Amino acid sequence: MIVVDGVDGSGKGVQTRRLLQSFTDGGLEAILTREPGGSPAAEDIRELLVTGEPEKWDSMTELLLMYAARRAHLRDTVWPTLAAGKWVISDRYADSSRAFQGIAGDLGLDTVERIHRLTVGDFEPALVVILDLPEKIALQRAHRRGGGEDRFEKKGDDYHARVRQAFLQIASRDPSRYQVIDADRSIDQVSQSLVELINTRFDLELATGRAPD
Ligand code: TYD
Repeated sequence: MIVVDGVDGSGKGVQTRRLLQSFTDGGLEAILTREPGGSPAAEDIRELLVTGEPEKWDSMTELLLMYAARRAHLRDTVWPTLAAGKWVISDRYADSSRAFQGIAGDLGLDTVERIHRLTVGDFEPALVVILDLPEKIALQRAHRRGGGEDRFEKKGDDYHARVRQAFLQIASRDPSRYQVIDADRSIDQVSQSLVELINTRFDLELATGRAPD
C-alpha cells in the first residue's frame, strides 16, 4: 500500500491518478482509493464529514468518524486487494487523522494512536509520501477547485498551517516509511519525483504516467 498525503490542495488527486496510470502502464495490477471513503460504506461516512459547517463536529467526533470510515475501507477494499496480490494507492490515510485531528485539532497524537491500535491493529502502509507546499498556495488551489466538500477548508489558515507542520513532524519521525516531496512545482515535475521515489523504494521501472488530469 502506497499512501499520498498532505494539506488540502496539495495535488494528491492528480498525482495519485497519474501514479495509478504508471502502475497500469507498467503491467502491474493496482487500484486507486481514497480516505475518507474508498468503499461504499466509507463513502457514506465521508459525506457526513466533508459537508456542512466546521463546528458541526468537534475533533473527537471527527476522529471517530474517520476511524469508522477507515475500518470499513480497510475491510472492504484495502485488505482484500492486497490479499489478491495487487498494489493499493490511497489518496490519504491515517496520517491525515494524526495531522488534522491529532495535531491541528489538538487531540494529541497519543489519543489518535490509541484509537488507531484499537480499530486498525498493527497494519501499516509500505510507504507514505507527503506532498508539501505552503498552505496558503495549497488553499488557493483548493478554493479554485470549488465543489461542496469544503468543511475542512473553512477551518482557516492557522488550522492549515498547523496541518502542514504536523505532516512534516510526523514524516521526520520515521524516514524509512515517510518521504516528503516539494509540491510547489509543476504537475509534471512532482509526478516525476513521485515515480522516481517509488521506483527506488520498490525496485521498479515505472514511467511517469499521463492520465487525464
Ligand atoms: P480529501 O478528499 O482528501 O480533500 P482534498 O481533496 O481537499 O485534499 O479529504 C477531505 C478532508 O478530510 C480533508 O480536508 C482532510 C480531511 N481528513 C481529516 O481531517 N482526517 C482524516 O483522517 C482524513 C482521511 C481526512
